[in-house]
Amino acid sequence: MARFVIQGGRALSGMVDVEGSKNSALPIIAAAGLAARGESRLSNVPRYTDILDLCQILRDLGAEVEWDSDSSLVIRARDLAGSVAPYHLARRLRGSTYVLGLLLARLGRAEVAFPGGCQIGARPVDFHIRGFQALGAETRLEHGIIHARAERLRGTKLYIDRASFGTTINLMIAASLAEGTTVLENAAMEPEVVDLATYLNAMGARVRGAGTGIIRIDGVREPTGTVHEVIPDRLEAGTLLLAGAVTRGDVTVRGVIPEHLRTVLLKLEQAGAQVEEGAETVRVRMPGRPQAVDIETRPHPGFPTDLQPQMVSLLALADGVAVVQETVFENRFGYTQELARLGANITVERDTAIVRGVAELTGAPVEAHDIRGGAALVLAGLAAQGVTEVTGAAHIDRGYHGLERKLAGLGAAIERQEEVGDLLPV
Ligand code: UD1
Repeated sequence: MARFVIQGGRALSGMVDVEGSKNSALPIIAAAGLAARGESRLSNVPRYTDILDLCQILRDLGAEVEWDSDSSLVIRARDLAGSVAPYHLARRLRGSTYVLGLLLARLGRAEVAFPGGCQIGARPVDFHIRGFQALGAETRLEHGIIHARAERLRGTKLYIDRASFGTTINLMIAASLAEGTTVLENAAMEPEVVDLATYLNAMGARVRGAGTGIIRIDGVREPTGTVHEVIPDRLEAGTLLLAGAVTRGDVTVRGVIPEHLRTVLLKLEQAGAQVEEGAETVRVRMPGRPQAVDIETRPHPGFPTDLQPQMVSLLALADGVAVVQETVFENRFGYTQELARLGANITVERDTAIVRGVAELTGAPVEAHDIRGGAALVLAGLAAQGVTEVTGAAHIDRGYHGLERKLAGLGAAIERQEEVGDLLPV
């Protein structure tokens, strides 16, 4: 398995472009399958492995999915016919659940293997299933496959538990072809929900209220493929800014929507960073040792759970004690055991991590087990003295593309090694 080898201790500085958003592109690629007419041209699509896997699932279902350029996808879904999303692909990514909403709406039946994704909690799909049932579908789970059927989905009013992001997305996709109006209450408010609504509306669907807690969807019969640019990846941008901050550097991310990063930037300022926002850029300078700040993850617009591990890498080196509460996923502190190998002092009790900042981390071999926890280990390695080897790079590749190239462009000494061998200095 591939790994990153990092010679730490260099302050990062410079400008770096961000990719399109994974969590936006996944729903939009699935929703492209709703259109029996026309083609969708999606730009700013990142080549993360989760995206490649979802493209393959759609191809297996009969859609034509081609890369037009490095970051632009063309999808023609006229001949979408199959109803089975296979285990070997669906188990790899959480986004495969969106294929349920798509197939149920478009073909009236779906058989999708129970989804996979990062091991950061139990991650059931009961909210999704209850939503489909409320729209009139019959569902059952058999041998690890979710089976769903409905002649035609019927619009309804329903309350989404815990403002679940994936449930909101899946029901928006399904309700777009339903008969009548669907009202989603306690809907997720993430920018990626708004991006999906923009795309669905451009296809001819009628979605109102995305970005608020109540979304209204008037079903239509025949959406048409259309052109859409995926929003920037606020999570990649946040990771790169935190990489700058943890090394006490000066990093500017370009091609971002600064409002999407607001909560993270506020916390960085509280920790002592200097933040400058431009129209499409954000610059973060960390002139000295960061101060400890407390964090509580929340659905948007709260502090994003997907930046919690990277923030903890920063706090591991902060002056003082930080309390970090994870309220979205119940098992998202596994990576802290790996951070301890670098010398971090973190105690985890249920949903809370107490991070006692240390003056210095020292390089060591560590292993990534999920996308964001893996990114946190890379960041800690960049700040640590000596060599850090992060194995399990494939987990990181699910949500970052060319991370090592971007970090090297900012002055980091990092390289990817495909073979496992002796630890080599870089
Ligand atoms: C998505 C994102 C993930 C992000 C998360 C929260 C993708 C592919 N993943 O995950 O990066 O961290 O939103 O912003 O876009 N839950 C249930 N039953 C369900 C659905 C969810 O109990 O049917 C629970 C989950 O286990 C979790 C909480 O609800 O504890 C929130 O999950 P949700 O918002 O649905 O996250 P995902 O869509 O899985």
